[in-house]
Amino acid sequence: MLRAKITGTGSYTPEKILTNHDLEKMVDTSDEWITERTGIKERRIAALNQTTSDLAFEASKNALKSAGVKAKDIDLIIVATVTGDMPMPSTACLLQSRLEAKKAAAFDVSAACSGFVYGLSAADSFIKAGAYKKVLLVGAELLSKFVDWKDRTTCVLFGDGAGAVVLEATNGENGILSTHLYSDGAMWDMLNLPGGGSKYPPSDETLSKGLHYMKMKGNETFKVAVRALETLVVDTLKSNNIKPSQLALLIPHQANLRIIQATAKRLGLSMDKVVVNIDKYGNTSSASIPIALDEAVRTGRIRQGDYILLEAFGGGLTWASALIKW
Ligand code: ACO
Repeated sequence: MLRAKITGTGSYTPEKILTNHDLEKMVDTSDEWITERTGIKERRIAALNQTTSDLAFEASKNALKSAGVKAKDIDLIIVATVTGDMPMPSTACLLQSRLEAKKAAAFDVSAACSGFVYGLSAADSFIKAGAYKKVLLVGAELLSKFVDWKDRTTCVLFGDGAGAVVLEATNGENGILSTHLYSDGAMWDMLNLPGGGSKYPPSDETLSKGLHYMKMKGNETFKVAVRALETLVVDTLKSNNIKPSQLALLIPHQANLRIIQATAKRLGLSMDKVVVNIDKYGNTSSASIPIALDEAVRTGRIRQGDYILLEAFGGGLTWASALIKW
C-alpha cells in the first residue's frame, strides 16, 4: 500500500520581534493580560517589502534541503494560506516560479488555521492514489498586514511565519496514518476578513470601515474550539486503535495556550509531550503546525517510529487532525 511520508521539514520566521511590551505602547493592553489569556510573549513581524511567498520560499528551501530533494523533482506544490500575495495567481504558483520547480502543479488551500492539516490530507490523498510521488506542502502567513493594529482584541494574537514539509511516496508502514477534516460554515462570522472579495470589493467605504482587517469573536471561538478539539483528538486516536499513552508528541495549532492545555488534558498528556512555541511566535495560522514540527525535528524531539498527532482549529470554521507514524 502506498503511503505519504514526511521526509524533510523547514521553517522561516522574520527577524523583527514585536514583544508584548512593544504592544503596550500601541494599544490599551498589558504583558500580563496577553501572557495570562494567551501564553504569547512575542511574535515575528515581516519586513514591509516581504510577501507571503517570500516566507514560503525560505521555509521551502530548508525543507527541500532536509529531505535531500531538488525543487525540479517536486510533482505538486500546495500552499496553505489565507494571506496570499494576491487573490490571483495562487501563492503556490508564485512559489513554484521562485523555486524553479518546473514540473510541479501548484495550488493554494484556504482553511485558515487548519490549512496545513487540510493541505496534508490533500497531499496524502494524491500520493496514496498514485498521482504524485513528491509533494511540497507549505503553511505560510503574513497576518501582520491584515491585522488592525488599533484593535487590541486581535492585534496581540497574530504573527508572521512559514513552515514546509516534503512528502514522498513510500511502501513502508511509517508515514501519514490518517487525516480527519471538519468544517461548519454556519459559523463563518466567528472569524473572518470580509473586505476585498466579491461580497465587499475594495472601495473607499470598505477601507474606511476597516473591512480589510481580520475580525474575531474571540471568546465564542474559544469555547467552540475547545469542544471541537477535545472530540477530534480522542476520535482520531480511536479510529487508529492508538491509546493516548502511545503518543510521543502532540503538535497543536498555536492559537491559545489555554486551548492547547485543555486538549492535552483531555488526552491525559503531560505538557512535556506537547510542542508549544506560541510564546515566541503567537498565532501564525496555517504556519504554526509546520513551524512547531520543524522545531521538534531539529531539536531531536521526534524519533523514528514515534506516533505524532497534529490538530488545528480555525476560521471557516474548520478543524482537522492527522496521525503520523514517524
Ligand atoms: N488587552 C487587555 N484587555 C483585553 C484585550 C487585550 N489585548 N483584548 C480584550 N481585552 C478585554 C476585553 O475587552 C474584555 O473586557 P471586558 O470584560 O471589560 O469586556 C476582557 O478583556 C475579556 O475579553 P475576552 O474576549 O472574553 O477574553 P478571553 O479570555 O476570551 O481571551 C482570546 C480572548 C485570547 C482572543 C481568546 O478568546 C481566544 O484565544 N479565542 C480563540 C482564538 C482561536 O482559537 N481562533 C481560531 C484560530 S485563529 C485563525 O483561524 C486565523
